Amino acid sequence: MSGGMMVGQVSGGGRVIGPGGASAEGVDAVAIGRDNHGVVMTGDIAASFTVTSPGSAEPRPMLPAITVVSVPAAGMIGLPSRASTVFVGRDKDLEVLGRTLSAGPGVITQAVVGLGGIGKSELALQYAHHHSGTYRLVWWVAAEKPEQIQAALAALCRALCAGTAPAAAAQATVEEAGAWALAWLAASEGWLVVFDNVEEIDHLQPYLGRLTSGHVLITSRRDIGWQELGTVLRLKVLSRPAAVALLLQTIGAPAAPDPALAEELAQELGELPLALKQAGAYIVRTPGMDLASYLRLLRTAPRQALAADPDRRSEVGQVVARVWAVTGARIAQVNPLAVQLLELLACYAPDDLPCEVLYGLDGIEEAAVIEALGLLASYSMINQSPNGLRVSVHRLVQAVTLAGLTDTEHAATRATAAELLQAALPQNPERISSWPRYAWLLPHARTVLAPDSPGMISVIGYLVASGDYRTAHTLQQRCVTALHDKLGPEHPNTLRARANLAYWSGEAGDAAGARDQYAALVPVRERVSGSEHPDTLRARANLAYWSG
Ligand SMILES: Nc1ncnc2c1ncn2[C@@H]1O[C@H](COP(=O)(O)OP(=O)(O)OP(=O)(O)O)[C@@H](O)[C@H]1O
Ligand SMILES: [Mg+2]
Repeated sequence: MSGGMMVGQVSGGGRVIGPGGASAEGVDAVAIGRDNHGVVMTGDIAASFTVTSPGSAEPRPMLPAITVVSVPAAGMIGLPSRASTVFVGRDKDLEVLGRTLSAGPGVITQAVVGLGGIGKSELALQYAHHHSGTYRLVWWVAAEKPEQIQAALAALCRALCAGTAPAAAAQATVEEAGAWALAWLAASEGWLVVFDNVEEIDHLQPYLGRLTSGHVLITSRRDIGWQELGTVLRLKVLSRPAAVALLLQTIGAPAAPDPALAEELAQELGELPLALKQAGAYIVRTPGMDLASYLRLLRTAPRQALAADPDRRSEVGQVVARVWAVTGARIAQVNPLAVQLLELLACYAPDDLPCEVLYGLDGIEEAAVIEALGLLASYSMINQSPNGLRVSVHRLVQAVTLAGLTDTEHAATRATAAELLQAALPQNPERISSWPRYAWLLPHARTVLAPDSPGMISVIGYLVASGDYRTAHTLQQRCVTALHDKLGPEHPNTLRARANLAYWSGEAGDAAGARDQYAALVPVRERVSGSEHPDTLRARANLAYWSG
């Protein structure tokens, strides 16, 4: 369905109807067509904005032909961080990756699978850095959610077009830019793309099927039939000597004063890289602390009841929980704000939260937040991006931090995290200049915002404006369910949200689904609002429209 249509809804008032007559309705709803100018208001939410999406009046510049865009001679590297300077015990695993990925031709896919904190992402990062010279392009895709994959590919398009067509790349929708990047990869050789932390094989299928040559490295906590795609490397915890080496190198000790003690501590930490690194960071940071006293502290640290887990996950969680109990007690003494920040960070998506979201905390100076984040980073509880603007928290650390909160504390922390995020969302989701910020905040919004919150409505507005109808549809579905549960099936807000859902089903490519949803909606509309009510008429018009 191409553009040329849109309607915005105004609560209790007028409505803006686009040239195509399609509708977006809702006290809680926003709809933005691609070729429209008008005013969209979101009723109760009271967010209003002018649709300035580029349309028929001002056609957008076209993305260049893929054949005319090539990477700079020096190659292009898009990796999230530097490889860790302390890196131990994965020689064989690196060798396996190197061997598999050098076997050609065609697309070669290698999956690295293992428990959280075991070092999958670090291994992929080390491989990518070590071999960056042999690729023309290395690109990292945070792949936990499908829309992150799409956003990372769109970012690749923007990076590739930076020299030749920056305006076209900036104005392309996420879908267009992502498709362009995929086409570029399909037509090129000598690239490596890392899909980090993939949850479902299905999330990759739309992409991998299109590629013909290049290297794909996947990391996943889930061992779910990756062999269908290529080879699988199952990563184990470190060997005992490697675990000891990680501990000692983190501490900066040339050799263990008491080798047996270092081994005991490594074993106590489950030879898990994440826990070893955090324990080492604690020892370095704490005056007078040594292996023996740390081991004593660890053994007396409270064990948290983490969710029962059939495999080793809970065991691993226990290790991280005990490490955190020791570090948390210390951080709480030194800087209680740091503990509060970590709790907030545990409520967002794990990777790449813009730090400025946290600067909105009531009554707290930005400098204090920066200092507290620095403290958390020094204890290896969080990772800051090289420029210090973004922060990531390991998923296990998030889980352990949240497990330490009571239900009431958790709810209060989450509410604060949601407020901060909402305040950080740009006012105008339809403006192209807002899109990069929305793209950064999207995974965090999905994690922390209530499905029918004003912030989520803005996020859905951004997705629609930027052409990601599929994700808009998913989030709108959640909004409908929430409104249905909260207000009932026939409340005007629920019905309007349903109408939007139907419309975006159509825009996402499911015309029959849109038709069926409108067919179900029309009789309810007639009963609730009367057969002459504008909402009813609009639902009927849309039924006709999507019936073809
Ligand atoms: N071989 C290693 N040597 C030194 N440090 C390591 C090693 N492997 C991992 N680490 C460190 O351990 C921590 C956890 O590793 P990483 O983030 O790669 O785990 P992961 O398996 O990707 O976890 P998740 O599934 O939760 O994403 C990181 O700080 C990483 O730098
Ligand atoms: Mg990882």
